[in-house]
Amino acid sequence: MKSQLRCLKWAGLAAASLLLTLGATSAQAAIGTIVGSVHDFSTTGPNATYKGTSTQVCIYCHAPHNTGSTLLWNRATNGATYSLYSSTVSSTMNATTGQPGAVSKLCLSCHDGTVAIDSFGGATGSKMVTGAPLLGTDLSNDHPIGFPYNAALVTADPGLRAVSTAATIGTGNVGTIESKMLFGASGAATVECASCHDVHNSTSGTAVQAKLLKVTTVGSALCTTCHIK
Ligand code: HEC
Ligand code: HEC
Ligand code: HEC
Ligand code: HEC
Repeated sequence: MKSQLRCLKWAGLAAASLLLTLGATSAQAAIGTIVGSVHDFSTTGPNATYKGTSTQVCIYCHAPHNTGSTLLWNRATNGATYSLYSSTVSSTMNATTGQPGAVSKLCLSCHDGTVAIDSFGGATGSKMVTGAPLLGTDLSNDHPIGFPYNAALVTADPGLRAVSTAATIGTGNVGTIESKMLFGASGAATVECASCHDVHNSTSGTAVQAKLLKVTTVGSALCTTCHIK
């Protein structure tokens, strides 16, 4: 149900995006959208090291007509296997982490350092993510991802909020933890990179958070959205 809704939303927005792409100018707001953000790799993008030769913004990740079935993905396939987080010392994790879900693999197609930023649309590029944004393929020291967060997990770990708990993304984008932060069908939806980050820099309204975070880290509000601590 939820994934169907996401697909419908995607179809509508894809149409809108074509108009957006055709009408885009450098006058477009740089705050609260992907245009002009760290993920704008177009010729007018902000980072000279990473920007490419296409004038389009979306094309580095999505294409309107394409073989990639997940979100019209336009990037080279990422075949890496990852080292996963596990709380081997304290054994307090209740969830079993698996390989990152499809949505996280999208992020990792740049952030694990195995695929170049400009490897899209069938081309093989050469610009790799370096420095702090490079996570690599060892995710054992990163917040766990790729596991369902649902009622059964909350029963096992009373330190987690119910996924029906209200969550506010940026300013006024109100929903639940499940609807705003988890990915997949209701009851089986998973924690992924995009649970905490908005790759498009767009869900935050006027209050754009550092590091593209969906919720501020002031007072650790991001963490306490899900954890009762
Ligand atoms: C740097 C890569 C990247 C770029 C560039 C990018 N996207 Fe995305 N997009 C993603 C990823 C990753 C997801 C899945 C994670 C998510 O939904 O937040 C996604 C999901 C989406 C979705 C479905 C989920 C949602 O948020 O509604 C839409 C629609 C979308 N992108 C449209 C666009 C448009 C339009 C552009 C250009 C203006 C664009 N994207 C540019 C990476 C990108
Ligand atoms: C097309 C390649 C690509 C994809 C796909 C991509 N990123 Fe990035 N991302 C980058 C690069 C390159 C940078 C560094 C840009 C810079 O420093 O100017 C970056 C920077 C970031 C930053 C740091 C922002 C800051 O303000 O310092 C975050 C957080 C981030 N990405 C998260 C994500 C997440 C989460 C996803 C998936 C939902 C994703 N990225 C998908 C290439 C990508
Ligand atoms: C539970 C929330 C959460 C999840 C899940 C998460 N992140 Fe982050 N991420 C953060 C926070 C918080 C920061 C800011 C940390 C800081 O500033 O010290 C951050 C920082 C980053 C940065 C910026 C690093 C830098 O210093 O420039 C990148 C890139 C990034 N995350 C990518 C990812 C990717 C890719 C994934 C999935 C593999 C992911 N994140 C999953 C919360 C999360
Ligand atoms: C979208 C919801 C969500 C957000 C936001 C979130 N977490 Fe989590 N986190 C979880 C879930 C679910 C688990 C798995 C808990 C379990 O299995 O018992 C988890 C696991 C963890 C663990 C591992 C616990 C263990 O027993 O090994 C730590 C530590 C943690 N989170 C810290 C944080 C911190 C710090 C932040 C803020 C930067 C954060 N989390 C943000 C949902 C979230």
